[in-house]
Amino acid sequence: MTSPARRSAMALAIAVIVFAVVLANALWPTQSHIIGANSFVRGDSASIERGRYLSVAAGCAACHTAAAGKDFAGGRPIASPIGTIYSTNITPDRGTGIGSFNLDQFDRAVRRGIGSRGGTLYPAMPYPSYSRMRDEDVADLYNYFMAGVEPVSIQYSANSIPWPLSVRWPVAIWRKLFAPAADAPPFDASRFNDPVVARGAYLVQGPGHCGACHTPRGFSLQEKALDESSELYLAGGQVIDGWVAVNLRGNSADGLGNWSKDDIVATLRMARDTRHAVIGAAMGEVVLHSTQYLMDGDLQAIASYLKTLPPARSDSSAFAANPATAAALAAGREADRGAQLYLDNCSACHRSGGAGSANVFPEIAGNSSVLSPDPTSLIRLVLRGSSLPRIPGSPSALGMPGFGWRLSNAEVAQLLTFIRNSWGNRAPSVSPREVAHVRAASEPARK
Ligand code: HEC
Ligand code: HEC
Ligand code: HEC
Repeated sequence: MTSPARRSAMALAIAVIVFAVVLANALWPTQSHIIGANSFVRGDSASIERGRYLSVAAGCAACHTAAAGKDFAGGRPIASPIGTIYSTNITPDRGTGIGSFNLDQFDRAVRRGIGSRGGTLYPAMPYPSYSRMRDEDVADLYNYFMAGVEPVSIQYSANSIPWPLSVRWPVAIWRKLFAPAADAPPFDASRFNDPVVARGAYLVQGPGHCGACHTPRGFSLQEKALDESSELYLAGGQVIDGWVAVNLRGNSADGLGNWSKDDIVATLRMARDTRHAVIGAAMGEVVLHSTQYLMDGDLQAIASYLKTLPPARSDSSAFAANPATAAALAAGREADRGAQLYLDNCSACHRSGGAGSANVFPEIAGNSSVLSPDPTSLIRLVLRGSSLPRIPGSPSALGMPGFGWRLSNAEVAQLLTFIRNSWGNRAPSVSPREVAHVRAASEPARK
């Protein structure tokens, strides 16, 4: 028999050994292949222009340009589960930016998540997606950032991440366990028969990093899938700054099953199509900084790829158009308090038939955002309203007012339960507790 003291000494020894192995693994330098220099011509103007376009497709500015800051000079706060992370200055300034990076150092940051001093970057920088980018695209991006971007000298204060989460080597453990391996092959187009779909898949999975928001995350915050080999890819559910990144798969109620390719293209170009509108800043900024500028062929390719994704299996919502609600509302028969609240507050714009008005007020019947299993965005929209980003050419930049000042938590719950279960919509009901939760999280702090 071993004594308790002996047993705890052994447990301690094992813990020390495991810790030492984990630490050694975290500190062990990561090897990655060096981009073939033969195809790379520094300063080539066609390459700079291709790099500029890719930086738009990849939304680098969405994170690396601060609200009133110079292009790519960093300092933008990015909320993350462990604290606020500030993006870095990626202008070619030699002192405070990335001007001294060679192509390989740039590649290691963008595709492998390894910073200039060898430390691992927080995955707020979406390198797990960028790891799919092709060598030649990374070289074009590098050319653009070195020669097409104005250098800005600016240094920021550190992140607000508290110790011990601020220590970088545990982030290296995360990277080695959950991010694609540093020697993982980039995107393979040969698994697609249709070159248009292949181009769309590349843009969505690589530069577009759509999955960073639209794919559900696992217990350690890793994306559960990085491509269509899993039905969880782009299956939605993450809440980004208070807005639910909806399911982009073929589900007909809460996904894009009932969207045409043209609907998807219009949404990526103008933040709205004839029947739906983007709500909230998260997707609004993707359109504002990135997708509105993509070439038509590329938006068509993205839409073609998204339309190949079969529905995700879990389906708590459904839609089958049913005229009963509209008839009852038109006849002044209000089934319950929710119906009454809809008539009083919403029907002036969205109409009693829930069909809204083409290009102006979105449809409520069969709307994928209304049918999302997680009602967080809807609650927030009704409490605080939303405004569409101003996009040239968009038929309407009208916003929706917030109703939080006049509707109680119970009323918002009744109203949303009503719109989620009328005109043929079927989605889980909303409780006053859920409304209270979103109200507390979305209201400006009181003095
Ligand atoms: C979703 C937000 C986001 C996007 C999009 C993004 N970045 Fe970043 N990036 C960050 C954050 C945050 C950091 C700092 C991470 C850290 O401190 O660990 C960072 C760090 C970097 C670094 C490391 C700089 C250094 O000094 O080590 C480089 C280089 C970089 N990004 C380039 C890019 C490029 C090029 C793009 C577009 C292809 C891009 N980023 C897109 C958020 C983003
Ligand atoms: C920063 C996070 C983020 C990224 C990156 C992102 N999205 Fe979104 N997206 C969202 C959120 C949040 C919504 C929900 C908006 C809503 O309900 O209207 C959304 C909604 C959408 C919608 C549906 C709009 C609607 O009204 O229901 C489409 C289509 C879409 N995204 C496509 C894409 C594509 C394609 C990409 C990659 C090029 C992408 N998104 C990248 C956060 C993101
Ligand atoms: C003054 C007209 C107006 C009123 C009143 C109004 N809305 Fe809206 N609603 C809009 C506009 C405009 C948008 C698009 C806003 C955006 O995308 O930022 C919108 C968007 C929506 C969406 C999102 C649609 C989508 O495609 O994602 C829902 C759901 C919604 N409203 C529900 C309601 C409910 C419930 C009420 C009553 C409490 C209401 N609205 C009252 C004008 C209105």
